[in-house]
Amino acid sequence: MRISIIGTGYVGLVTGACFADQGNEVWCVDIDPEKVELLKRGESPIYEPGLAEMVRRNLRAERLHVTTQITNAVRDTNILFVCVGTPPGADGGPDMSAVWAVVESIAKHMTEHKVVVMKSTVPVGTAAEVRRRMAALTDVEFDVVSNPEFLREGAALKDFLEPDRVVIGTSDARVATLMKELYAPFLGPDQPMLVMDNASAELTKYGANALLATRISFMNELANLAGRVGADISAVRKAMGYDHRIGHHFLYPGVGFGGSCFPKDVDALADTAKKLGMNLQILAATNNVNRAQKRIVAEDILERMGSDLSGKHIAIWGLAFKPNTDDMRAAPSIDTVNMLLDAGATITAYDPEALHTARKVFGDRIEYAVRPYDALVGADVLAIITEWSEFRKPQWEKVQENMRGRVIFDGRNIFDPTRVEALGFEYYGVGRGRNVHRGEG
Ligand SMILES: NC(=O)c1ccc[n+]([C@@H]2O[C@H](COP(=O)([O-])OP(=O)(O)OC[C@H]3O[C@@H](n4cnc5c(N)ncnc54)[C@H](O)[C@@H]3O)[C@@H](O)[C@H]2O)c1
Repeated sequence: MRISIIGTGYVGLVTGACFADQGNEVWCVDIDPEKVELLKRGESPIYEPGLAEMVRRNLRAERLHVTTQITNAVRDTNILFVCVGTPPGADGGPDMSAVWAVVESIAKHMTEHKVVVMKSTVPVGTAAEVRRRMAALTDVEFDVVSNPEFLREGAALKDFLEPDRVVIGTSDARVATLMKELYAPFLGPDQPMLVMDNASAELTKYGANALLATRISFMNELANLAGRVGADISAVRKAMGYDHRIGHHFLYPGVGFGGSCFPKDVDALADTAKKLGMNLQILAATNNVNRAQKRIVAEDILERMGSDLSGKHIAIWGLAFKPNTDDMRAAPSIDTVNMLLDAGATITAYDPEALHTARKVFGDRIEYAVRPYDALVGADVLAIITEWSEFRKPQWEKVQENMRGRVIFDGRNIFDPTRVEALGFEYYGVGRGRNVHRGEG
C-alpha cells in the first residue's frame, strides 16, 4: 500500500517505519526541515530502541521516503495518517492548530479519493470536525478514520508491532476492510482490531490514558499515606497486584507521571466534559495529585537538608520522563531540578539518553555528566528521578567513593532500603515508612 505519515515525531516515525518494514511504500512528511534532513541521512531525531536501525533499513530499501512537501505525499498516496502533535492548549483542551493545518492542506491538494486517518490523540468530535473542514475546501470524496495510538515511548516498536489491540473508528465497511488489510501483519487471535464509530474510538484513547494516570495518582496518594503510617508501599503494591481484578501494571508509586500524553490527555478529557456542562471529578484529582507528587523528592530533600541549599551539591540520576526515551516533556525532573535550584543547590545530572533534550530545558543552570558515577563526585545527596535499569544495581563502592555525603532519595523505589542502609546510606523512598517530613511512622 502507499501511505503518508504526516508529522514524524515519536508516533509518526514509529508508524512510518513499521509500515515500511512490512513492505508498504511510506512517505514521511514533517514541517521541521532539520528533522527531515537528519532522517534523510539515516539518523533518528529521537531515541527509541531499535528505531534508527529500522529507519535506515527501509530508507536503504527505498520503501521509506522523507520530505517536507505534503503536496507530493497527498498526490502519491491514498492513505494519509495524521500524526502531528496536539500539545496542551490555552484552555485545558489540546492545541489543534497542527491538525487543522494538515487536514486543510490535504483537502486543498487532493484530486482523488483519500482515506485520512487520525492517529494524533484528538478530542471526541474531531473526526466530524475534520469532515466539515475538508468538505468546505474540496468536492473530492474522502473518508476520515479515527485510529488512536497506544504505543509507549521506550517500547514503541514492540507496542506497534505487537499491539494489545488496534482501534478503528469508521462507519464505512470498505474502509474498515482496508484498515484490516493494512494492520493484518500486527493482528492475531489475542490482538484484535476493534471497529467502532469515530467518537467511540476517540473516547477509547482518552479513557485508557486517564485510567492509567488515575491508577498512578491513586497509588501515589496511598504511598504518601504509607509513609505516614510506617507501611512499605512496595509490599502493599505487590500484594494488591496479585489480585487478578487489579493486576501489577501501573501501580508503581514515584515522583509522578510526565510525558507528552498523560497530563494533557487527562486535562483534555476533563475539558471535553466541561464543554458539555459536566464535571468529571476524578480527572481533576488525578492531575492535582500528580502536580503535587512531582514536587515530592525536592520537598523531602529540602526538609532533610534545610531550606537553603547553597553550598550543597545534588546528583540526579535520570532526567527523561521515563526510561528508554530521551523525551523530557513534562518530566518530573523539571519540577525537582527547578525547586532545588531555587533553593540554591548545585546540580550535576546524568541520564543515559536525555542529556541533549535536557540541555534544551535547563541550559547551563546545571552540570551534565556523561557517566553516572561522574555525577556523584562531591555530591551530598543522590536523587533517583528516572528508573533506568542501569541504576538498579549500581557499583556501591563507586557511589561511596565519589559522594561526599551519604543521603539517597529514591524517587522510583528502585533500591532495597535495608540493603542501602546497611551500606551506610540514609535512604528515603516514596511511601516506604521513611519519608522525612511525613514522620517515621
Ligand atoms: N508520544 C507518545 O508516546 C504518544 C503515544 C500515543 C499517542 N500520541 C499522540 O500522537 C500525537 C503525536 O505525538 P508525538 O509524541 O509523536 O509528537 P511529536 O511532537 O514528537 O511529533 C509531532 C511532529 O509533527 C510535526 N508537525 C507539526 N505540524 C506539522 C505540519 N503542519 N505538517 C507536518 N508535520 C508537522 C512536528 O514537527 C513533529 O515532528 C499527539 O497527538 C500525541 O498525543 C503520542
